[in-house]
Amino acid sequence: MPAPRQGSQELEDAINEVREAVGKTIVRLLPETDLAEAPLFDAMRYGASSGKRLRPFMVIQSAKLFNVDPSRARRVAAAVEMVHAYSLVHDDLPAMDNADLRRGKPTVHRAFDEATAILAGDGLLTLAFEILGDVETHEDPRVRCDLMVTLAKAAGAHGMVGGQMLDMIGETSNFDLGTISRLQRMKTGKLMAFACEAGAILGKASEAQRRALCNYAFDLGLAFQVTDDILDVEQPVGVTGKPANQDEKAGKSTFVSTMGKEQARQRAEMLVNQAISHLHVFSGRAKLLEELAYYVLNRRA
Ligand code: IPE
Ligand code: IPE
Ligand code: MG
Ligand code: MG
Ligand code: MG
Repeated sequence: MPAPRQGSQELEDAINEVREAVGKTIVRLLPETDLAEAPLFDAMRYGASSGKRLRPFMVIQSAKLFNVDPSRARRVAAAVEMVHAYSLVHDDLPAMDNADLRRGKPTVHRAFDEATAILAGDGLLTLAFEILGDVETHEDPRVRCDLMVTLAKAAGAHGMVGGQMLDMIGETSNFDLGTISRLQRMKTGKLMAFACEAGAILGKASEAQRRALCNYAFDLGLAFQVTDDILDVEQPVGVTGKPANQDEKAGKSTFVSTMGKEQARQRAEMLVNQAISHLHVFSGRAKLLEELAYYVLNRRA
């Protein structure tokens, strides 16, 4: 098994570039308004305003493999990030993880109020589908439909939402490793899989290329969630921008709670190597996605 590597300067620059470009696209899609319901839009913008933007990075990089028009890729990247942001706004609510801090700032229900946070999440989720369904995203209605159906499956009851349900059940049940893997792949892996698959959908790639990207992201998503669980016990709030030890306090079933930090880390390394192996079909052209896998493993926030 190759030793884990650090990400390169090229990767860091590419992530920063995506962060800036997609940040601008999100603001353009969510402009300020003087309507009476303006606090809803403020809360949506606030909830989607920062973060590592890893899912947009996946969309942009996978789209580059198939020479997709960058402005189209940015729209899909913004849509995925909106679904991700909604998932976090709702994840932080008192009825779920009851978290006061996210990205070093008060969570949406703290900065606004609970009802506004629920509605802001709803607004972000529906706006994502509006963006994908718009002709500006792709002139071929079959592509737009494919994007929408694939995202719905990834984000819905058989994907992220189902994973979040299992996560809540896991607070009071003792899950085995197989069930925890399934939970984590659903709650985190499926949306990442969509982010990677989206470039292939936009570029009308072959089924084999599409499947390779999906498999890569599904393994990477699980590794990502395992490292999130390790950071939860390892890093202080000043580093992650999130409350420390949230999972243990809530009695969550995670790889860390089941196999301990060291074995969980080994498992994440194994998954990262497995993720990278799926990229071989691109004969070295997916180098930044390969490096992203090491970044996920070695990140501190
Ligand atoms: C946090 O995701 C939620 C998980 C799936 C673990 P990220 O760590 O990608 O969150 P941001 O967007 O960078 O804050
Ligand atoms: C949330 O997982 C994943 C989602 C799908 C929202 P966590 O609850 O572990 O995410 P953090 O640690 O709050 O970011
Ligand atoms: Mg949670
Ligand atoms: Mg949480
Ligand atoms: Mg967590």
